[in-house]
Amino acid sequence: MSHEIVLDESIEVPRALQETFAYVADFSRIEQWDPGVRSATTLSAGPPGVGSEYRVDMKAGFSLHYTVIEFRPLAQMLMQVESRFFSAREEILFEATPDGTRIRYIARFSFPASLAALSRRFPGVMQGVGKSAMQGLRRALEDAYTAPADAERHALADRLILPGMLGFTRFGYQRARRRWKPVSAWLGDRHIVLTGATSGIGLAASRSLASMGAKLTLVGRESAKLKSVAATLRAATGNARIGTETADLSLMADVHALAKRLLRAGHPIDALINNAGALFNPRQTTAENLEKSFALLLLGPFILTERLHPLLAAAQRSRVVNVLSGGMLSQRIRVRDLQSERGTYSGSVAYARAKRGLMILTEEWAKRWREENIVVNAMHPGWADTPGVASALPAFRRLTRPLLRTPEQGADTVVWLAAATEAAQQSGAFWLDREPHPSHLFASTRETPEDRAALLQALADLMTGTTPKRRAPRKS
Ligand SMILES: NC(=O)c1ccc[n+]([C@@H]2O[C@H](COP(=O)([O-])OP(=O)(O)OC[C@H]3O[C@@H](n4cnc5c(N)ncnc54)[C@H](OP(=O)(O)O)[C@@H]3O)[C@@H](O)[C@H]2O)c1
Repeated sequence: MSHEIVLDESIEVPRALQETFAYVADFSRIEQWDPGVRSATTLSAGPPGVGSEYRVDMKAGFSLHYTVIEFRPLAQMLMQVESRFFSAREEILFEATPDGTRIRYIARFSFPASLAALSRRFPGVMQGVGKSAMQGLRRALEDAYTAPADAERHALADRLILPGMLGFTRFGYQRARRRWKPVSAWLGDRHIVLTGATSGIGLAASRSLASMGAKLTLVGRESAKLKSVAATLRAATGNARIGTETADLSLMADVHALAKRLLRAGHPIDALINNAGALFNPRQTTAENLEKSFALLLLGPFILTERLHPLLAAAQRSRVVNVLSGGMLSQRIRVRDLQSERGTYSGSVAYARAKRGLMILTEEWAKRWREENIVVNAMHPGWADTPGVASALPAFRRLTRPLLRTPEQGADTVVWLAAATEAAQQSGAFWLDREPHPSHLFASTRETPEDRAALLQALADLMTGTTPKRRAPRKS
């Protein structure tokens, strides 16, 4: 005869019903809060709802297959669970309380006759598993985590070439993620502007942020591609609040025009993610006669961020995330040769110097805007297998392919810096895999205070120089 075990656990969490339901309803996030789970994957397309399917791999070495069979937004979800050892019906009920939300979890496990005797001998095991999962969920939704603060902890390993580079691979990601905390922040009240949203890391970050409910403004250079990405993301996440803005960010006329449109629309910006990027070989100049790496990777983000400052300030607690690269660590800024005009041009060096410049801006903005609660951070995505890497670095990709991260893994720290509550605790830092790292490994890459001042002046002059002139009023 088969045997049934019933669990019935309730917790109360200090979070609004809408936020609580949004977090739990995407059941793939169980990997963040159930300590018994190793990983969880969404198997179905589209937003959570009836028919959503998840594969949940347990640390104990077996997998569960979840199918959502009832789904009442803000109220209930019922799932059929199948595994090698048992089947189950798991129901999660949500109810608003004066201080937050009550979550009730009812599970009915059916063990086949062959395992019934065993399951009868250990009734407490299932109860314990259910309790620890619910306590994990309560902690995730309390969201009282502290961000790691000590960048120097990594200084030695980063300086040693092999361990430093291993950290950039997918193995570095897998090792780091064991230390991560759940991210239950609700983004339904946030507006995020993201550049380079049509490919690779930016596309992966957009998908995550859209599924967390943020209102997104995706910036891309090609209108048709951008619109198709936005439509795909809307369908995949059920988030209708995804807008698009077309701009070639290596052209300052486009950057100014984009900033003007966003300022005119007037929606406060809770997070600006400067992600668009490319590596140029041989040296190229734009129609505005600017060297392309400098234009796209440094001057463009400078002008966009400076001009959007009023909207960042208007959000009252906003964030800027600058996507840099580990290559920056090998270079010092050359203020007298920002456009790589002297000596032999190398695309990787021009790229790394521009990223170094954006690191300097990250630190300067962090200081300047601290009082306005604008948190500015930079990050390295690690080495991710993206269309950008495939086209700019085909030999590197061929050599390192088994070590490369997925675009989602590369995008993880972008999303964390933009979304996680605790990520607002620090400003001006350089992050890899949700941990701060030194932004200089060698004394030779350090700029002087005079270099910093000269860089800021040169960029400000170019911003003024490229600002479109206001048309004189017509004489009548
Ligand atoms: N992948 C890595 O291993 C790695 C490592 C370190 C740093 N990064 C940084 O991560 C960021 C994203 O790179 P990725 O690897 O995801 O590359 P990707 O797949 O090529 O994506 C780059 C994005 O930037 C956009 N973009 C390029 N030039 C632009 C321009 N002139 N105007 C507007 N948008 C432009 C691209 O638009 P289209 O779709 O139109 O091409 C695309 O959306 C870059 O800043 C890169 O430097 C990547």
